[in-house]
Amino acid sequence: SKKQRVFSGIQPSGNLHLGNYLGALKNWVALQDEYENYFCIVDLHAITVPQDPKVLRQKIREVAAIYLASGIDPEKSVVFRQSRVSGHAELAWLLNCVARFGELSRMTQFKDKAQKGGAESASVGLYDYPVLMAADILLYNAHLVPVGEDQRQHLELTRTLARRFNNQHGETFVVPEPMILETGARVMALDDPTSKMSKSSPVQGSYVAILDEPDVIRRKIRRAKTDSGSEVTASPDKPAITNLLDIYAATTSRTVAELEGEYEGRGYGDLKKDLAEAVVEALAPVRERALALLDAPKELDDLLEAGAEKARGAAHRALGDARTKMGL
Ligand code: ADP
Ligand code: NA
Repeated sequence: SKKQRVFSGIQPSGNLHLGNYLGALKNWVALQDEYENYFCIVDLHAITVPQDPKVLRQKIREVAAIYLASGIDPEKSVVFRQSRVSGHAELAWLLNCVARFGELSRMTQFKDKAQKGGAESASVGLYDYPVLMAADILLYNAHLVPVGEDQRQHLELTRTLARRFNNQHGETFVVPEPMILETGARVMALDDPTSKMSKSSPVQGSYVAILDEPDVIRRKIRRAKTDSGSEVTASPDKPAITNLLDIYAATTSRTVAELEGEYEGRGYGDLKKDLAEAVVEALAPVRERALALLDAPKELDDLLEAGAEKARGAAHRALGDARTKMGL
């Protein structure tokens, strides 16, 4: 039988971090045999906020290198840049004419982001971000989309737009389902366990970057916030230690309960030391492979172009179908 399709993407902005690795990349790699995967570098999404073009160009290659270095295999999965498949922008326009101003106005992520910088000066692209995301998914008729908690509302909008289009114009799009990934789903910041580890954080010590050198990783984990008390246990009144245990469990594929047992009678220092080594062990090979790939940017670009060629082929049918059904 035919494999179900999965669409996933990361923006080439900021530094990819341990949260992206445990919550997204590591899980994506595991999906490769069971599903037909589209792993996209969503550069059109990145420009919804101002970017320095030189930095963006480098970040695009960096994300591609990290995808491959993490174990994404371009022979098995389609790895490509969103901006190289014009169907994303084109379908987004068609869907713009299906989406409603009111429903976009209710998107909490826009409200949060616009609140920080002021809605008046936010780009229209930032406002329209969820429609572009819907286009990303519907263009490939993806059945499943791995999403974190923060993207749930956007995926719900994607489903609404697919259903509305299908109702108005006849069966066209697959209505995608969220794929809930349990492991590493919510890695919290090292300096503040109440907020997610984020690549847009200005605080370097709040995240471990996938490309951090081993000694930098060790230092960041050594300085990570801890809680009062001294027992290594996961509990609501110990959010910092709980986060470190969750990271440790996701990194080593063990359970938090096992780790709690192992650290009985030992302190936070021991936990941090061992966790740092586990993270270094997981990330150092990824870093080395990524740096080697970045040393050959032409090959990396060629590989992305080959992926875009495949993606264009797959996108062609859904786009043509949608266009025709709308009378275009
Ligand atoms: P983008 O803004 O490019 O979507 P994010 O960094 O928000 O990038 O997310 C990219 C992927 O990494 C998503 O699948 C998201 O769920 C996952 N991710 C991001 N931050 C974390 C985190 N702190 N813990 C777990 N997963 C995360
Ligand atoms: Na995001």
